[in-house]
Amino acid sequence: MQSAQFKAALATLPLTKSAYFESVGSTNDVVADWAANGLQPPALAAADEQTQGRGRHGRNWFTPPGSALAFSLLLADPQNLDSRQLALVSGLGGLAVCLALEELYGLAPQIKWPNDVLLGGKKTCGVLAEAHWQGKRLAALILGIGINVAPPSVPPEGKISFPATCVDAAFGQPIERPDLLVAIAKQVLAWLPKLNTSDFLQSWEARLAYKNQIVRMEGPEDTVTEGVLLGLAANGNLRLQLEDSQEQVFQAGEIHLRPIIDSAAK
Ligand code: BTN
Repeated sequence: MQSAQFKAALATLPLTKSAYFESVGSTNDVVADWAANGLQPPALAAADEQTQGRGRHGRNWFTPPGSALAFSLLLADPQNLDSRQLALVSGLGGLAVCLALEELYGLAPQIKWPNDVLLGGKKTCGVLAEAHWQGKRLAALILGIGINVAPPSVPPEGKISFPATCVDAAFGQPIERPDLLVAIAKQVLAWLPKLNTSDFLQSWEARLAYKNQIVRMEGPEDTVTEGVLLGLAANGNLRLQLEDSQEQVFQAGEIHLRPIIDSAAK
């Protein structure tokens, strides 16, 4: 199942270690184990199939064999990150995926804040950034990326909370998964040292979906706030203008962003 192509592609990247699995629980767990055993970043684990793929908000992530891209990067701490800056790392994942899709296939992806990548308004990619702390020291910084590439990787309707599609459908023909993997990993490694720059923030913000549109922010315990999506704060939080013209800033975490115009998105 393209194992040789994946391994050859991974060998071109400047990594301390890479591995490709036909089937594994979760690639985020693989690189977390590597870090716990003292491996230095950057390293990457990819899998054709994940049997325990994890998404944000404790959800499962669907990774059937032969059709998806699922991989995790173990990254160096770029600048003594603290937990509030984890949003920047997941933004890095979304931006890297967008840049690779633009460069390789001329697509026009958008980022549904904080980090879902949309094609034609439908979710195509999810990002799960995880940090492992030892006291105040960041022991492992992990960026997991899952992409629907071919149609079988798009979860069935009943299993998703937002409309989904895949790269092949948006591009109009099958793409080569190893090429996309390498292009994304190169973008991640190139942008990692620039997380606190205006260049990074502007590049992320330029691809935000629903800019200047009314959106709904759904928080814990059914709290809902509506407002116009203004853009990003310096730490990657989302700025909204409320009805009374006041600005409110939202942190990722438990918040779900929903467009108001699209009634299909629940
Ligand atoms: C989301 O909920 O949108 C985030 C999904 C992240 C999925 C990726 S696939 C590779 C890595 N391994 C996992 O178990 N999750 C991430």
